[in-house]
Amino acid sequence: MTVSYNSLPPCQSLRVAIIGAGNVGRTLAQRIIQKNLANVVLLDVIEGLPQGIALDLTSAQGLENYSCQVVGTNDYQETANADLVVITAGRGRTPGMSRDDLLAINAKIVADVAEKAFKYSPNAIFMVITNPLDVMTYLTYKVTGLPAQRVMGMAGVLDSSRLQTFIAMELGVSPANVTAMVLGGHGDLMVPLPHYCTVNGIPIIELLDSQTINRLIERTRNGGAEVVKLLKTGGAYYAPASSACITVETIIKNQSRLLPTAAYLQGEYGLNDIYIGVPCFLGCGGVQKILEVKLTSEEQEALHISANSVRKNVNLALESIGIK
Ligand code: 2OP
Repeated sequence: MTVSYNSLPPCQSLRVAIIGAGNVGRTLAQRIIQKNLANVVLLDVIEGLPQGIALDLTSAQGLENYSCQVVGTNDYQETANADLVVITAGRGRTPGMSRDDLLAINAKIVADVAEKAFKYSPNAIFMVITNPLDVMTYLTYKVTGLPAQRVMGMAGVLDSSRLQTFIAMELGVSPANVTAMVLGGHGDLMVPLPHYCTVNGIPIIELLDSQTINRLIERTRNGGAEVVKLLKTGGAYYAPASSACITVETIIKNQSRLLPTAAYLQGEYGLNDIYIGVPCFLGCGGVQKILEVKLTSEEQEALHISANSVRKNVNLALESIGIK
């Protein structure tokens, strides 16, 4: 009996390699397999960690009723021929640290893992999550030499989901009814766009006064730090993993969803040779198109200030790993 192509669950043919089995990586692995999106290879340098997580996740397969497989490994060879490589490896923040404080240590880690993953999956799309996000995405682009559209950073979806949540909480409405957009670097200089935030199409500027909107924006800007302060031992991972999973799904299902994503700019928004959060259509080729939305002069200026900060850190990171 031949099994026709269409009868196979999608995940039988797709493969996502997650580099880093920390809280974000392992939670993302769980999301991907439980949504039956793709098979997962979870890699970490710590002997036994990814293997133990994979065994634990697999032990729930019958209960959660999914058919995708997850394996854990310490060997990059087992990540070979991945369709998508997600880089979560690196240190997380502890209370009082900014994401930029992770620059020196994570630049070395990300440059190393990107090179090793690329060696075995030269045709993959690369999605970076490690912080400082925009800088680590640029490093991955440089180290792999991939076309820019096949390298992206996931952060804008996370920041936008926080703003979406805070708007919903403020108005007492379902978050599913709220759309929010946050651009720029994934840090203190991120650029929320309140006039593109709506409740079922109704602009929030018609529902909330500017003082309230500014308070929600400030909470979004500090959203990651608020979780770090509460957890004391590390950063958020459930919302980052869900944000990454939505991005994975959009790519492997070729959905062309419009998601704020760290993408390589070549003149868009007046910026060049930089990765920073902008609205992108994502599909199986990676970043299909960057959408240039109208910004107020203040927002345009804020985006450029954010970009200048990212560029300064990119230069420091490149120097730290010996790339000119
Ligand atoms: C955050 O904002 C980890 O950068 C991530 O929580």
